[in-house]
Amino acid sequence: MKKDVKLSDINTQREQTSFYKAELENRYHIVAESLSLKKVIQDAVKAARSKSTILITGESGTGKELIARLIHRLSPRKEQPFVVVNCAALPETLLETEMFGHEKGAFTGAAYRKPGLFETAHTGTIFLDEIGDMSPAMQVKILRVLQEGTFNRIGNSAPITVDVRVISATNSDLKEEVRKKKFRDDLFYRLNVIHLSIPPLRERKEDIPPLVDFCISRFKEEMGLTELNISAETMNLILGYHWPGNVRELENAIERAVVMGNAREIAPQDLCIRYQESKQDEIEIGMTLQQAIDSFKKDFIRQTLRLTNGNRKKAAQILDIQRTYLSRLIKEYGLEI
Ligand SMILES: Nc1ncnc2c1ncn2[C@@H]1O[C@H](COP(=O)(O)OP(=O)(O)OP(=O)(O)O)[C@@H](O)[C@H]1O
Ligand SMILES: [Mg+2]
Repeated sequence: MKKDVKLSDINTQREQTSFYKAELENRYHIVAESLSLKKVIQDAVKAARSKSTILITGESGTGKELIARLIHRLSPRKEQPFVVVNCAALPETLLETEMFGHEKGAFTGAAYRKPGLFETAHTGTIFLDEIGDMSPAMQVKILRVLQEGTFNRIGNSAPITVDVRVISATNSDLKEEVRKKKFRDDLFYRLNVIHLSIPPLRERKEDIPPLVDFCISRFKEEMGLTELNISAETMNLILGYHWPGNVRELENAIERAVVMGNAREIAPQDLCIRYQESKQDEIEIGMTLQQAIDSFKKDFIRQTLRLTNGNRKKAAQILDIQRTYLSRLIKEYGLEI
């Protein structure tokens, strides 16, 4: 990523525009090595051409907003606004005012007319984040915008028409919410015309090493550290951890390690994660110590083989054992594919 040009060095409008574009690309750069994330990106690229609504699902910190921004950037609407609404951050009445705006005098304290975010997003894209947390009344209003393209400012009965592309995101299971009657099924189907599901980071471990490199180089640059590296031991620890907070948690862990470390090499203790955490929920009690050790070894070898796509030579290197010994263990534990 080139970042050696400063804004003060450039003069023309065109140069400034391309500077901002490069900055933006760096800020919203997507690292994707795994087939599963590449597939999401391919689908996002296709979906960008249309105006269809898109629902992005995935655990917290998996990159839902990043994908939504990518879709907007690749769409014919890219020069128009991209407006983010966090549906979980505000109580219902405030959210309604934010989204649809109000007239002067519509309620106590409404001293002037204020356009809502749907108006701001006109001809562009609106990103409805945490859509699963929206109240039933708001769900009805959003449904109307999706069906008719119209809404009312609070305090005015005249409908306003907008042309907005809607992308929404959630980390909850919306189908389940529909089943429990907490989320309207008609709205669900309207939002879900195209569905992009981002897998959790622990299910696409190929993305971890390039993400780690990306984060290190970003923080290195910010802090002016030229020598910094990561030890193999630390990388193994990162690969073994289950990352419940996904990429955001990884970013934070790396940032912490860069700031608190010795400026030369990131060591396991700089990370503040413990491998044991990843296994806590799965520990079974009631077996002998030897059975527990065997069960752990089997699982550990299986995970490492998965990481290397079955490549025994690479797996043996990571595990720091002889390849022949690994083959023996694979046979013993019945892990042959
Ligand atoms: N593939 C990726 N490459 C580079 N950075 C990423 C990637 N995925 C996520 N990130 C970064 O991780 C952080 C979280 O991403 P984002 O905010 O898009 O996730 P989210 O799914 O919207 O999270 P939440 O559910 O908590 O709102 C951001 O800083 C983002 O830049
Ligand atoms: Mg988000």
